[in-house]
Amino acid sequence: MIIMGVTNIILNYLIVQSLWLEGKNKMVKMDFGGVKEDVITRKEFTVAQAQKILKDEVVVSLGYGIQGQAQSLNMRDNGVKVIIGQEKEGIFKKEWDKAIADGWKPGENLFPMEEAAKKGTIKMYLLTDAAQKAVWPKVKSTLKAGDALYFSHGFSIVYKDQTGVIPPKDIDVILVAPKGSGTSVRRNFVDGSGINCSFAVHQDATGKAMDRAKALGIAIGAGYLFPTTFEKEVYSDLTGERGTLMGALAGILEAQYNTLRAHGHSPSEAFNESVEELTQSLIRLVDENGMDWMYCNCSETARIGALRWRPRFREATQPVFDSLYELVAAGEETRIVLEKSKAPDYRQKLADELKEMGNSEMWRAGTTVRSLRPKKAKKQE
Ligand SMILES: NC(=O)c1ccc[n+]([C@@H]2O[C@H](COP(=O)([O-])OP(=O)(O)OC[C@H]3O[C@@H](n4cnc5c(N)ncnc54)[C@H](O)[C@@H]3O)[C@@H](O)[C@H]2O)c1
Repeated sequence: MIIMGVTNIILNYLIVQSLWLEGKNKMVKMDFGGVKEDVITRKEFTVAQAQKILKDEVVVSLGYGIQGQAQSLNMRDNGVKVIIGQEKEGIFKKEWDKAIADGWKPGENLFPMEEAAKKGTIKMYLLTDAAQKAVWPKVKSTLKAGDALYFSHGFSIVYKDQTGVIPPKDIDVILVAPKGSGTSVRRNFVDGSGINCSFAVHQDATGKAMDRAKALGIAIGAGYLFPTTFEKEVYSDLTGERGTLMGALAGILEAQYNTLRAHGHSPSEAFNESVEELTQSLIRLVDENGMDWMYCNCSETARIGALRWRPRFREATQPVFDSLYELVAAGEETRIVLEKSKAPDYRQKLADELKEMGNSEMWRAGTTVRSLRPKKAKKQE
């Protein structure tokens, strides 16, 4: 009797240890510039493990937009059971047709949004952030105890006072946020690389929330996964896209182009010195081995000048970034997004603004410059 009891205790201990080790092995500590952080790669957490965790789930992508398409195709290719929920009438027909073109079958694994939502155990809320607010009552009504609600952005949850998205307590609320366009999420998956993603758990009702989040991250093809919170994700994301990734990038390129044009430089010269050299040469060197490496591959004259001007640009823009972050954290950027998306013609207005940018002299000059790029041909050895 005593021997059996002791054996049971030892067995239980070993099981707990191996589960703990398994969990531990799924994270690896890496040094990010002197700060140690946990990350997960496909080595620690394999696609096979993700498949095992997701095997009894019906994963539904609500929305077949840029992220919905990329994430669901990657999961399908990774052997996860996925269905699509996409409205099909009027302006939504485009995405419905895109789903059919990608091989999803109406009535089998492609349904109108609410119908699909009812079938899913993991509901991936991949509508535009404004639409997540608009259709929340419909989606909320399909949630069953034990389901998971998945986001790729902290927006709806963090700014709940503005969006009204407050999930019931008996479901998991999780996030996997790709740090790249959906287009790259798919392209990089197809070429065997990946896009890095953050992950987070906002609510763990089932005890499985963390495993579900990690498994989905691996299944959608993350390069590596790093932990965050919903709040940190949305604050950094809104700052990043308004800042260096998109807003500041376009603004600073335009400013330099305008200065060169104002001093009589031709559009070709101004575009080459502001954009083409960046995209065709320098940013690729930064990508390859960092900023100092790129500097090392430029002339001494360029290096001396760039090192002298770098702090000036940093100091000139720091207050802009600080105020941007403050406005994001205060919910002001969210208020503007939700306000703008209320107008019935807001999609047309956005398209018009983009058209205006594309039709500017600078970006029309870019079209010509691109057309003059020699076609890549394999060099003879
Ligand atoms: N686009 C990106 O690269 C990217 C990157 C990271 C995270 N995200 C996040 O992913 C989520 C999805 O964004 P996206 O860029 O893929 O969106 P998207 O604009 O490409 O697609 C939106 C989807 O929502 C549907 N939709 C729009 N309004 C609707 C309505 N009123 N009712 C029903 N369906 C409606 C559309 O049909 C489409 O399927 C967002 O939370 C976004 O912040 C996007």
